[in-house]
Amino acid sequence: MERIILDVDTGHDDAVAIEMAASHPGIRIEALIAVNGNSPLHNTLENTLNLADALRIEAPVFAGSPAPLLRSRANAPAIHGENGFAGPVFGPRKKQVQSGNAVEFIIRTVMDNPGQITFVSVGPYTDLALALRVEPRLAGALKQIVVMGGTSGQGNVTPNAEFNIFADPEAAQIVLSCGAPIVMMGLDCTLQTIINPQLIEDIRKTGGRASEIFCASMGFYAESCLKYIHDYPAMHDPCCIAYLIKPQLFSFTEETIEVDTKSELNYGRTSLMWKDPGHIVRFARRVDREGFFELMRDCFRRLKEAGI
Ligand code: RIB
Ligand code: CA
Repeated sequence: MERIILDVDTGHDDAVAIEMAASHPGIRIEALIAVNGNSPLHNTLENTLNLADALRIEAPVFAGSPAPLLRSRANAPAIHGENGFAGPVFGPRKKQVQSGNAVEFIIRTVMDNPGQITFVSVGPYTDLALALRVEPRLAGALKQIVVMGGTSGQGNVTPNAEFNIFADPEAAQIVLSCGAPIVMMGLDCTLQTIINPQLIEDIRKTGGRASEIFCASMGFYAESCLKYIHDYPAMHDPCCIAYLIKPQLFSFTEETIEVDTKSELNYGRTSLMWKDPGHIVRFARRVDREGFFELMRDCFRRLKEAGI
C-alpha cells in the first residue's frame, strides 16, 4: 500500500493523476493539497474540491501555498483556462476545505509515520519546500518524494524551463537537494505520453462520472494544447501515479539536479550535473507508452465498477 500526500495545482493533467490515485486499491490518499500553479490557489482549491467530491474521495483537501517562496506568481490560463480546469461542469458539492495548516499536516503525518509516507508533487513544490524548512528531520522521515517537473533540455514554459520548476525554482532547489529518495518525472519522459483521440474515445466508452469529467476536460485541454504547443496533451502528472502503481513501466538514470535560481534567461532551468555535488535523483527517461495507456484505461474501468 502506497500512502501518499498528493500536492496538486488542478489542472487538467493533475485531475487525471487524482482520478488514477483514487481508483487504485494499492494507493491510499492521506490528503490532497491544492497549491498555486496552473491557476491561482482559489481556483486550484475549488477544482480539487469539486473533483474530490465527484470521486467520493474521503481524504481531506487542504489549501496549500497561495504563492511561490520568492518569485511572483506564474499561472497558465491559456492552457488550463481561466478557472484552471476548463471543460467539466460541477454542481453543488458537499466536500469542504479541511481546516488547519497544510504544512503542519505534512509535518505531523510524516513524522508520526516514519518511512511510510510518499509525497507526490505535481504542481510547484512550494508546500513541500516549506515543510522541509520548518522541520529539517522531514527528509529523513519520508519514504520517498515523487515529483513531476524539470527537463534535461527543452522547456515548455520558457525554452529552458519546465512549468512546475519555473513557477517556484527556489522551492524546487530546496526539495531536490533535501536528501530524501526522489523520483523525478521530467519532460524527457512525460512527453512520451501524449494522448490521442482514440484513447479519449476508449475512456468515454467506459462510462461513468469520472469518464465524463475526463472527456469534458480533455476536450478543452486538447484544443488549448493544439493551439499553443501544437500537439495533443501529455499526461505529465499521471506519470507520477503510474510509477507508484506499476514502476516497471519506467526506466531511469541517476542524476544530480541543479536549479537555476539566478539568471533571467534560464530562470527555473534544471541542469543534470555529471559530477555529484549534491543528492542523487532518479530521473525518468523512458516509459512503456502502451502499458501506460492501458493502465489509464484500467483505472477508469475501476472507477466505473465502483459506481463513479
Ligand atoms: O509542465 C507540466 C506541469 O505543469 C504539469 O504539472 C501541469 O499540470 C502543469 O502544472
Ligand atoms: Ca500540475
